[in-house]
Amino acid sequence: MKKLFLTLFGLVAALGLTHGQTITPAHQERAAALVSQMTLDEKIALISGKVDGFSTYAIPRLGIPSIRMADGPQGVRNIGEKNIQSTFFPCGISAAATWNRDAVHEMGAGIGSAAKAHGVQIMLCPGVNIYRSALCGRNFEYYGEDPYLASETAVSFIEGMQKEGVMATIKHFALNQEEYDRHGVSSNADERTMNEIYFPTFRKAVEKAHVGAVMTSYNPVNGTHAAENAALVKDNLRAWGFEGIVMTDWVSTYSTLNFMNSGVDFEMPRAIVTKPEMVKALLENGVVSEAELDEKCQHILQTYAAFGFLDKPLEADPSAEDPTVSRDRAYKLALEGPVLLKNDDGILPLKSGKKNLIAVLGPNANAIVCGGGSGWVNPEDGRASTIVDGMKGLGKNWNVEVLGTPQPDVLRKASAVVLCLGFDSNTEKENSDRKYYLDKKQVALIESVASYTDKIVVVVNSGGEIDIRPWADKVKAIILDWYPGQEGGNALAAILSGKVSPSGRLPFTFWGSLDGNPAQKWYKEMPQLHNDKVRQHYRYTTYGEGVFLGYRGVEHFDSKPLYPFGYGLTYSSFDYSDLQIVPAGDGYDVSFTVRNTGKTDAKEVAQLYVAPEQPSILRPAQELKGYDKQLIAKGQAVRYTLHLGADAFRYYDIASRTWKTDPGRYEIRVGASAGDIKLRGNVTVD
Ligand code: BGC
Repeated sequence: MKKLFLTLFGLVAALGLTHGQTITPAHQERAAALVSQMTLDEKIALISGKVDGFSTYAIPRLGIPSIRMADGPQGVRNIGEKNIQSTFFPCGISAAATWNRDAVHEMGAGIGSAAKAHGVQIMLCPGVNIYRSALCGRNFEYYGEDPYLASETAVSFIEGMQKEGVMATIKHFALNQEEYDRHGVSSNADERTMNEIYFPTFRKAVEKAHVGAVMTSYNPVNGTHAAENAALVKDNLRAWGFEGIVMTDWVSTYSTLNFMNSGVDFEMPRAIVTKPEMVKALLENGVVSEAELDEKCQHILQTYAAFGFLDKPLEADPSAEDPTVSRDRAYKLALEGPVLLKNDDGILPLKSGKKNLIAVLGPNANAIVCGGGSGWVNPEDGRASTIVDGMKGLGKNWNVEVLGTPQPDVLRKASAVVLCLGFDSNTEKENSDRKYYLDKKQVALIESVASYTDKIVVVVNSGGEIDIRPWADKVKAIILDWYPGQEGGNALAAILSGKVSPSGRLPFTFWGSLDGNPAQKWYKEMPQLHNDKVRQHYRYTTYGEGVFLGYRGVEHFDSKPLYPFGYGLTYSSFDYSDLQIVPAGDGYDVSFTVRNTGKTDAKEVAQLYVAPEQPSILRPAQELKGYDKQLIAKGQAVRYTLHLGADAFRYYDIASRTWKTDPGRYEIRVGASAGDIKLRGNVTVD
């Protein structure tokens, strides 16, 4: 009888799958029925990972299978054999720089299908921590400085992945903005800052994308480690209605008591503070109630049920991924991520023909570069394209010469020199912050090449801003190419050759100097404290810039960026006109026309900013609340329509701990970047 009951629940839960893995009452009842049958030892076993670090304990008696997890944001890695190969997608900041929801959705689906092919049910991605300083070693994995852009990117990724039946894990909750001493330095921020800047991406992933799992961060938040932080997990994440799994980052717990009461369910990668004798001791003396343990098991099992994990065996299914489709998805994304910062004298696109010699050189020219750590992916053998591969693949009509070192004769006669520089998995990675400056040898290389020619196109691999001051005026063009994945070389060649116009836009403000970023002042605070041994238990970084992060701080701090948030050149030009704002649904529809006035088909990212005119408290001068990217043929015009919901006008009120909207006038700004507003209108909110 019991068996029949469970099978029926299994059927209902399996049907629930078609509804996007939302946890339904049927999933909850099925989980509760299982929890009620579990012994204490089984419950304790369920809440931690197994010794291999990326899977969980099975309870065969109750039909609960072992679940397998894998990193990470750019492809599938670390399952069993360390060097498993997988389609290597562009990194997170590159995905955000596309401002293309559909392409990111396809990335999520591509990594999801690869996960199924490898028998992985839970993927440890996306990473969404907000970009605060160029120095953060993990910026490359994340989605930039703006909570709206990051939320939209995360939702697209998660929906794409979960549609494949693979659970996404959004990480790292919360305030993981630096890697320097990442286990020790507390990120200290006020409630408004957390709610307006650092939480929205997680919240939208929960409310809109129904993400299955959330991973906590290594850092303490306001003094308490995230994996043991009930104020963070229970009072925020759970209060938003999250009923899925909260797991710790790998080795980030310190106290059984705090973990048990935190609202976090899973200790990963294995039991450190959840060893049976530790948990039992606290249950026996009544310091922790068994209800806390049951709740963790309930969250875990109801989420498994919603994803159908209780009904299908753990098996790799190579047919789940069509590698050709994955490569195509990776290529399309890689085409749209690179951001063209500068293009003097129209050196780009490059010119084909025997007469136009194009020299390619630099340490990253013939390498598949990736940020390091858990975001690193082993690309498919023989598939990945370097920039050299891409340039050589342009065909007979192109005269490309690859140089190991600067050769004066070649450089002098070249019509352009593509110089490939930047960081790699040794110099930009988790567990340490990176440098703002290019390696001295690379700067010397630019100078050496510049002594023969100024027809230089610098291609930079990095996860964020770098110092371009020493050499920017010696080169004609600069492209931020991020870590573009295994199709990156082919994609960059398509852009350099003019087959495709660049269409990436900065997902952060490019200040032009490290200290030009107002937040940097507070970011630096911590290393000074760090030298003070007496205070080592109180290491912290204060989020002193508050909500005025990135472009939100431009007016507030009177600080001028070199390249504004949302900026990026194309090979064409656009004209914006005919702004119309009409009430619609819970807000307004904003529509306008964009005409391609240049000579090339190109994509334009139109951005919508809301600027309160009479705020009752200090607010950023403008905030991004909508965007859309459209391909516009030369000479043609496209009408954009963006919706502004009621939430586009609100701010977080600390006193009442709620969101509030001031009545009054708001300017509605449409622009090509935060610093290039093309059209202005206004609305009055009651
Ligand atoms: C990282 C996580 C990752 C985990 C498992 C940790 O070091 O912070 O992002 O998912 O390792 O590899």
